[in-house]
Formats: sequence, C-alpha cells, structure tokens
Amino acid sequence: MTIATTTPATEAALHTMLEDVVAGLSQDQKTLPSKYFYDERGSKLFDDICELDEYYVTRTESALMQAEVGDIASVIGPNALIVEYGSGSSLKTRLLLKNLIRPAGYVPIDISGDYLSQVGHSLQAEFPHIEVMPVVADFTKSFDVPTPSKAEARRVIYFPGSTIGNFQRDDAKDLLAGMAVNAGDDGGVLIGVDLDKNRDVLRAAYNDSKGVTAEFNLNVLKRINSELGGEFILDNFRHEAVFNEGRSCIEMHLISTQSQSVNVCKYSFDFAEGETVLTEYSHKYTIGAFGQMANEVGLDVKNVWTDENNMFAVMYLERA
Ligand code: AVJ
Repeated sequence: MTIATTTPATEAALHTMLEDVVAGLSQDQKTLPSKYFYDERGSKLFDDICELDEYYVTRTESALMQAEVGDIASVIGPNALIVEYGSGSSLKTRLLLKNLIRPAGYVPIDISGDYLSQVGHSLQAEFPHIEVMPVVADFTKSFDVPTPSKAEARRVIYFPGSTIGNFQRDDAKDLLAGMAVNAGDDGGVLIGVDLDKNRDVLRAAYNDSKGVTAEFNLNVLKRINSELGGEFILDNFRHEAVFNEGRSCIEMHLISTQSQSVNVCKYSFDFAEGETVLTEYSHKYTIGAFGQMANEVGLDVKNVWTDENNMFAVMYLERA
C-alpha cells in the first residue's frame, strides 16, 4: 500500500491553523473552523458522542446502511472505485466494502496522515482482494484520484456521516461540484444527509445531558492552547448549541462567561460577557432541498434510502 500526500508538513500546518484561528477570532461573530475539533482527543470525544442516547445521527445512518447495503451495492454496480472523503475507519465503510461487487479499489482521503496510514493498513489487511490507495489531502481542495491497477467501471465518491452538513450552503455546493468533477462522467456520489426534524430532538442531540458535546466543543480551545500557545481558560467558556431556523442548522457556540481578553501567540482577543464563538454548523436538509442543491451543480438524485422515522437519508447522485 502506498500513500499519496498533498498536505504540508507539521510546521506549515501549524502556521495555517494559527492563520485560521486569528482570522476567525477577528470577525464580529467570532468563529473557529470545526475541522480543528478532531485531534486525537477530539476524535475520541466524537466517538463518545456517537454512543450517546441523544445523538441519533451515527446510529441511524449505520442501521440504514446495514438494512440497505445490498441495494446500494447493486445500484453502484461491479468494478467501482470508491473514493471516501474523510476518515475511513468506520463500520459503514467496512459494510460497503464487504458488499460491493468486485470493487476496483478503495481510496480513503484524510487530512491526517498518521491516522490514514493506520486505517489504510488495517483495511488492506481486512480486504486483501481490494486495492487500498490512501491519499493524504484536504478534500475541500483539489487533489488527484489515483488509478487502480484493475480497470474501474465508475468512480463513486462516498461521503457518509452528514459531514456535508458542517459546510455552509455555498461551500457545500462547491464541495458537491468538486465531487462531481472527481467522480467523472459515469461516476456517482453516495452521501449521508441528516434530515430536518423535531427541534427538541435536534437540540438534545447537540446539548447532551452527560456534557460530552460540551467537552468536544471546548476541546478546540484546549488544542489552541497546547498547539499554538493559547491562553484560554476553559472554565471561562461554556457550550451551547442552538437551532438557527433561517439557515435550518444547528450552531454550536462557546460562550464567554465573563468579560476577558485571551492571548494566542502575539495576538490578543477581547471577549465581552456573553459573547460567543461559533464553532460548528450542522445543517439539516429536507430531501427536496438537498436534491435541489445537487441539481444546481449538475448532479441528479438517482436513489434515496431513509430509515422508517425519516431521520436520515443516504442519497445516490449521478452526473446529469
Ligand atoms: C460528524 C460532523 C456530522 O454535525 O452531527 C456531533 C459532528 N458535532 N456533535 C454533526 C458533531 C457535535 C457531527 N458530524
């Protein structure tokens, strides 16, 4: 197994992170990019979130994939090259790989090389007959999809987890457009989309009673402290997730519990009491609204699979 890399070395990555943090905290509505949640601790906390009673997302998608994977595999057809955006360690990936008909190869894309190498090796060992070709890249930027040794019938981009929900609509559209390009002429996109639903269910999923989501949210400050020499006092911020009706998304915020200023490297940021840092969007779509967005970038909805409560959808899109 060989790994292709397009991401910068650690020092450059830290520099980018500092730039992102400074840019985000300099806005009127302070923001921090949600991708910085996922260091080792953050990834572990996210796994814990997936086990929570209130967090229905992962469990619902996994059950849906289990129920429908046979149908999904026949829609994708034989000899497909699967290109997965984001970490490929999960149950869902294994399920898909296990059920596909003679896949031409599997290309997991992740920003973390260490993680990708672990996952790549374990998947390669588990699926010796599938060529695993990891690519270390930021999937929001352009990257080359490697060519498998076996001829591919089509490329299918797999983007599970409703991670698309973390992008604002314009960015989500750009990302879908990029997927259409990477999928090529006869290719497709298999994507998990969390659906619009009861507000209490949504709010509970992101304000869990055990406080795991709060820990996860605060972890971004912890990371700024340890990696960028930030001086955030974590006790001076609290987590809250609210539903934004206008945008139809959950917004996660860190709320400053007092007036304070915080140093990060040579920069200093002032927080008023009650001022918030917006750390994550999680958009909730209707099937119609998502299909409309896909149409706008030249993708047609070919299939939609949902659970019996219409909580989550897995959609298969093809180039129009
Ligand atoms: C993995 C990005 C889909 O938006 O539901 C979970 C991340 N944030 N709880 C989501 C998350 C807070 C999750 N995604």
